[in-house]
Amino acid sequence: MKKIKVMTVFGTRPEAVKMAPLVKELQSRNEIISICCVTGQHREMLDSMLQVYGITPDYDLDIMEKNQTLSTITCKALAGMEDVLKKEQPDILLVHGDTTTTFSGALAAFYQQIPVGHVEAGLRTWDKYSPFPEEINRTLVGRIAELNFAPTSSNAANLRAEGVTEGIFITGNTVIDAMKYTVRDDYVFESDALNSLDFENKKVITVTCHRRENYGKPLQDIMLALKKLVETYEDVVIVDPVHLSPVVRETVFGTIGELDRVCLIDPLPVDEMHNLMARSYMIITDSGGLQEEAPALGKPVLVVRKETERPEAVKAGTVKLAGVETDVIFDMASELLTNEEAYQQMAKAVNPYGDGNASKRIVDAILWHFGVSDKQPEDFKG
Ligand code: UD1
Ligand code: UDP
Repeated sequence: MKKIKVMTVFGTRPEAVKMAPLVKELQSRNEIISICCVTGQHREMLDSMLQVYGITPDYDLDIMEKNQTLSTITCKALAGMEDVLKKEQPDILLVHGDTTTTFSGALAAFYQQIPVGHVEAGLRTWDKYSPFPEEINRTLVGRIAELNFAPTSSNAANLRAEGVTEGIFITGNTVIDAMKYTVRDDYVFESDALNSLDFENKKVITVTCHRRENYGKPLQDIMLALKKLVETYEDVVIVDPVHLSPVVRETVFGTIGELDRVCLIDPLPVDEMHNLMARSYMIITDSGGLQEEAPALGKPVLVVRKETERPEAVKAGTVKLAGVETDVIFDMASELLTNEEAYQQMAKAVNPYGDGNASKRIVDAILWHFGVSDKQPEDFKG
């Protein structure tokens, strides 16, 4: 039987969360030789995810530096990937999303004329600098990729609007596959900080912020909104597993680090994170992944960004764009804390992002593309 050699490459926390179910699916198929490479763009935050999913990479480029720049990540990942691709000569390289690892991996494969499959393809804001540099990373990868795995039909429409006519599969997002492994009603936290939270009597707001375009004043203003919330509402507790970026940590700890009912902890393993979200009252975030996960858990999300490439949950009513101004964020959060009807309208479980079978569809599409299977997978219908 002909076997297809499929290499996956990823480097940051969200890529690991969303590629892990796919790596597992690839490993489970007899028709596939699965090779997993990590760039190590993130170190601790990547390793903790690999541990949760029990994945040992075949290659680890180990490129992370403190305060790394976009250029250093790109150069180190590009050169490292060239060596690995030359050695392994995979039939296809799978990259995920929109990070610098994603872009460098796709470019390295293009230079070796190795086909690229883009997982989580077609998300767009159409604004070059927001999110920065992700919008351009994903757009360029869309141009390079031979196969585009779009989570939703509107992501697929974005690709068609850019002139991509072939090789688009609508699969759902693998993050929903990932949640099948993690969320449990009887889950017991490993973290003492999480075990000591009173989810019954307090309104726990889970917060994460890390976007480069929010560095500086926007992040400072978001933190001031959180400060105002704990100072105004005695039943509010804020939990923020603070990203390891030194820029983020300085602003977050410097602004809200000393406040009562603000719990700043280190980044959490993904199973702890998903279960924390599942027990929280609401989420305030600039993360992409949280915008997909929280609606599936029935938790209202305020997105502290100026725009989002994930309009599906906004349309469904569970996510609202709050921008980056202190008073607007405070007012929108206050509404959810004080108006039960407004809260209930947002706190409904909707799942426009997938049905838990995205990885299976992606692998089926690869096998169909290479002529190993004659069955084209059916699109995910959100
Ligand atoms: C990166 C991605 C972003 C993604 C985010 C997920 C790019 C340009 N950005 O941004 O799209 O949303 O990951 O979190 O690819 N650090 C550590 N340990 C870690 C991880 C990070 O110490 O495990 C520190 C390092 O000092 C590093 C800094 O965080 O230099 C920033 O990491 P980097 O990957 O450059 O940017 P992110 O903001 O994490
Ligand atoms: N996440 C996690 N631990 C944390 C914070 C986030 O496991 O302390 C998970 C989160 O559930 C989601 C992913 O990391 O699956 C999102 O990553 P991030 O916000 O860093 O990146 P983005 O999605 O914005 O690219």
